[in-house]
Amino acid sequence: MDVRNNQLHLGDCVAEGLAEAFGTPLYVYEEDVIRRQCRAMREAFADCRPDLHYAVKANCNPTLLRIVRDEGMHIDAVSPFEVRLCLELGFKPEQILFTGNNTDEGDFAYCLEQGVPINVGSLVELERYGRLNAGGRVSLRINPDVGAGHHRHVITGGPHSKFGIYHTERAAIEALLQRFDLTLVGIQSHIGTGILRSEEMLQAMEIILGTARGFGALEFIDFGGGFGIPYRPEQEALPLMELGSAMCQRFAAFCEEYGRPLKMKLEPGRYLVAQAATLLLRVTNIQSTPAHMFVGTDSGFNHLIRPAMYGAYHEVVNATSIKGEQVQAVVAGNICESGDVFTQGPEGIEHRAFTRPEVGHLLALLDVGAYGMAIASNYNLRPRPAEVLVKSGNSRLIRRRETYDDLVMTLVR
Ligand SMILES: Cc1ncc(COP(=O)(O)O)c(C=O)c1O
Repeated sequence: MDVRNNQLHLGDCVAEGLAEAFGTPLYVYEEDVIRRQCRAMREAFADCRPDLHYAVKANCNPTLLRIVRDEGMHIDAVSPFEVRLCLELGFKPEQILFTGNNTDEGDFAYCLEQGVPINVGSLVELERYGRLNAGGRVSLRINPDVGAGHHRHVITGGPHSKFGIYHTERAAIEALLQRFDLTLVGIQSHIGTGILRSEEMLQAMEIILGTARGFGALEFIDFGGGFGIPYRPEQEALPLMELGSAMCQRFAAFCEEYGRPLKMKLEPGRYLVAQAATLLLRVTNIQSTPAHMFVGTDSGFNHLIRPAMYGAYHEVVNATSIKGEQVQAVVAGNICESGDVFTQGPEGIEHRAFTRPEVGHLLALLDVGAYGMAIASNYNLRPRPAEVLVKSGNSRLIRRRETYDDLVMTLVR
């Protein structure tokens, strides 16, 4: 955290100055942090030079997409509009991998028309795809029976996950490939998100390699995303360099056994953008109950749902005054729900320590770049915030704040 004159700075800009210039609530993205994270990922996997497909679902702002493209990222897309946006921004169709779920014919047809490779996640979908593209190429999302992640809602492998073809379904897969004369060019899996331990990634990798063995025409194996970042001060970071070299080493041994080199693919989302953003909020109210001091703000879970949805932790800072008397408080939003609280943990509401706030102070929620604005909504008919990019003391708007007209535009009145 960059603190000068007791004030929070982001990309060499004073947070308070950004709030005054662009209003609050405000998502502020630091370009240097995105580039740093892209490079760290590349460096960790330097031994096997995988294709890195940025998971657009983490944050689809076009300015961020241009930055990650500039850093050599390809794309993991989950919907036709994500595909369309990336194509419009200049990504080539073959740089995109579409991994939908419960995908209908229209989504497959769109990707096929655009020449975007498709990764299929169920036997029913494989049959649907086969009918549309008999004789074509396909990759498959496999459920490796292992899941991991920061909350049960984000575990995407194992028996309780809706994602992917169970790794035991080999005979059914082979029958469908044969029936539609499909060439299986890739095996993919993604076991969850916010993973901070290498063991789960390596365990899933082993099962995927086991599934890949025996499919003779593979060109790539894709181990998905899931690389976590430490949100809580006491959390240890994922040992990415160690994990990268262990995965590359294991992959090289697999390729040797397979008989020829294959491409590794990875799909990082959170790791690239989470730490790049800060959400700035204005304090609008302070009131206490016998249990809590509630600090009310001009934002809410409509702008950052991670705490309400997963009990996710985001560090709170009083950006107006970083150092000073510390209080233990709850930070809440202006949405008409009792769960509209930013300071949560696995058991619900938590207190956080930060400098005693006053009405009008600016609070900052840290590490909100992934699955923050991406999941924001217009609940309570509130507009979504503006987004700003900062670098070397300069700031520019990369998404304007919504207006009343934006919100009612699609309503039949
Ligand atoms: C298929 C797939 N790939 C990649 C990702 C990105 O995950 P993360 O942001 O944890 O890296 C996701 C996230 O849900 C996903 O579903």
